[in-house]
Amino acid sequence: METRIAPLSQTAIAEAAQLLLQGEPVVFPTETVYGLGATIFNPNAIVKIFSIKKRPQDNPLIVHVASIEEAMEVSFAQPAAFLRLAERFWPGPLSIVLKRSVKVPALISAGHSTLAIRMPSHSAALELIRLAGPLAAPSANLSGRPSPTCALDVFEDLQGRVALILDGGACQIGIESTVLDLSQNQPFLLRPGAISKDAIEAVLQEKIALPAKNSPVFSPGMKYRHYAPKAKVRLIFKREDLSSSFILSPHPTSGERLLSVQTLYAQFREADRLGVASIDVECSPAIAADMALMNRLLKASCDIGSMDE
Ligand code: TXA
Ligand code: MG
Repeated sequence: METRIAPLSQTAIAEAAQLLLQGEPVVFPTETVYGLGATIFNPNAIVKIFSIKKRPQDNPLIVHVASIEEAMEVSFAQPAAFLRLAERFWPGPLSIVLKRSVKVPALISAGHSTLAIRMPSHSAALELIRLAGPLAAPSANLSGRPSPTCALDVFEDLQGRVALILDGGACQIGIESTVLDLSQNQPFLLRPGAISKDAIEAVLQEKIALPAKNSPVFSPGMKYRHYAPKAKVRLIFKREDLSSSFILSPHPTSGERLLSVQTLYAQFREADRLGVASIDVECSPAIAADMALMNRLLKASCDIGSMDE
């Protein structure tokens, strides 16, 4: 299959919608990372997503919607907290896990009775969903690779495996959405992201919990080593211990590279292109305090098996 990269335009978005409606997955930009989308009511297209990414079948997908009403249609028994959070943070980088409507194929949530839902804020993503309907979309990387934050990253992984990549330039945020589980009695933070735990607690006026590692509510995707480059990632807490030829620092000096949420995955991919053996990451107190960034760094640095989402 030939893979085309199309700059964003009304025509390109309409063409992408057409492919989606024909059951063909397409890649589209969001404010977090690029997504590999398929319409949720076509089980064959969902199966294709898992095979294109080589994604383990037991790792559920996030459904992307263009309105709160659409989120209500694909879920049921939404708690009051859902509306409060959606009204405050949507469109934006917050995925909310609710009970899944029977209308939605179980395949999407890997057989779980719940469904992760988010409304992205990228205008092209919203337009595509309005034209083609809700889209199940994991990050558009091959399993085991860092999430893609530009069209060329996607091309590097999925060339020959997808028909169309909509090119919206560099993603504004650069790491994946916060995932919050509201399907239990108590809210659980399954994956930290740009919407912080504090911001969510301020809206809910309630503490949210982090699931224990062996808990059944622990996000299925979290058991895989992901967000990881091929190079060994070492977290360095004292500047004088930095020694690799490839250094990521929040305050780079000459020869070092900038460590930021927005460029983390791009730097991981750059290290792999250069074939470096190790990446030293300077974890300053400010970096260590950034829950979303530290989560990705810890996962990239600890070897807990090789499978990814
Ligand atoms: O920012 C994002 O969320 C991006 C863009 C494309 O929207 N998408 C993304 O999808 O990161 P993915 O598939 O790479 O990660 C989805 C995460 C996984 O950790 C998965 O286990 C978790 O969400 N997840 C999905 N459905 C779930 C569910 N029903 N219950 C618990 N966790 C779920
Ligand atoms: Mg992913």
